[in-house]
Amino acid sequence: MSGGPVSSDLVAHDTAGAGEADGRDARESPGVHSTPARAGWPAPASPMLHLLSMADLDAGGIAHVLRVTDSLGEVVRRSIPRVPALRGRTVVSLFAEESTRTRLSFETAARRMSADVLTFSPATSSVKKGESLRDTVETIAAMGADAFVVRHSAAGAPARVARWVDAHVVNAGDGWHEHPTQALLDCYTIRQCRAEAEGRTLGAEVGTECFVGLHVAVVGDVRHSRVARSLVIALRTLGARTTLVCPGTLAPPSLEGWGVDVSQDLDAVLPEVDVVYVLRLQLERGTGSYLPSAREYSAGFGLTVRRAARLAPGAIVMHPGPMNRGVEIADEVADMARSVVLRQVANGVAVRMAVLYLLLAGPNALEADELGRSLGVAGA
Ligand code: CP
Repeated sequence: MSGGPVSSDLVAHDTAGAGEADGRDARESPGVHSTPARAGWPAPASPMLHLLSMADLDAGGIAHVLRVTDSLGEVVRRSIPRVPALRGRTVVSLFAEESTRTRLSFETAARRMSADVLTFSPATSSVKKGESLRDTVETIAAMGADAFVVRHSAAGAPARVARWVDAHVVNAGDGWHEHPTQALLDCYTIRQCRAEAEGRTLGAEVGTECFVGLHVAVVGDVRHSRVARSLVIALRTLGARTTLVCPGTLAPPSLEGWGVDVSQDLDAVLPEVDVVYVLRLQLERGTGSYLPSAREYSAGFGLTVRRAARLAPGAIVMHPGPMNRGVEIADEVADMARSVVLRQVANGVAVRMAVLYLLLAGPNALEADELGRSLGVAGA
């Protein structure tokens, strides 16, 4: 996991506006780059310090998070879904941009693990009096925070926070840059669906080999999508093939380093893929000015009922939410059996429990099986 500045070669925008540059060195993180990318269950990752970018996790690191999620996911399904794993720890939920899924699932995840949660809302804070991001996070840290979960409209803001405070930092979505826990929950959901299709349940025997050769179409507003950036990195790391399908105006300024195929013909791509991942048209980020009209976009790139019928049996439909129903995805498609949108949301809680656990337990984090046994998880 990264403690450094924004480092991905996929960053299309600078980090301006993330707050005040402070000139201090970024805290070094024990990364997980040494584990070779391969399928199955690679060696456990090094302790995590921050989660700022998917680029900082190799195949072993991703697999480790997914495997820990297996154990914690069973806890979520219990009648009393709470374990003491993070008792005495404090998680700060610092969302300087709107969110429903990510904020609530992180806060739920922290509470499921018995951590204390400090929820920071800019609208009712001293930010309204002009307090800077740096002064704000340093003030909160002075109260005793172990982890900051940060969403911000500026790319690089979570990396800046990681330099300012002596606490773990999770990027919960920064500008057009990245949204790594979304990519992790998406990978978890894909692995879960693939295992079910083979009649298997998740556990130690189900690794990440299902991603090798998997073909995923990522459709829509790639240019403005932090979700796409993190997902493409994760899929490439795990050995999957990605095809971006978007109008030229919504392609990133450069695709150097992405390792993807590109198409503008959604009808031709759909029968070829195992997963179609529909992106939200980011109208609040000015997407409208890149398109003649939402109607024309929908005609060329919307996942309509007619188009969904072109998918192969077993192919799944994903969307990070919130959805613009009737624009990038038809109502009926969003709700059809092959759509796993709500499953993505449900898995988000367990994945974020795993991320918080691995960050806050540090070198004392138990191996996934051992963690499962300590929590009384069946089959661990
Ligand atoms: N997928 C996602 O990030 O949703 P929210 O904006 O609701 O958190």
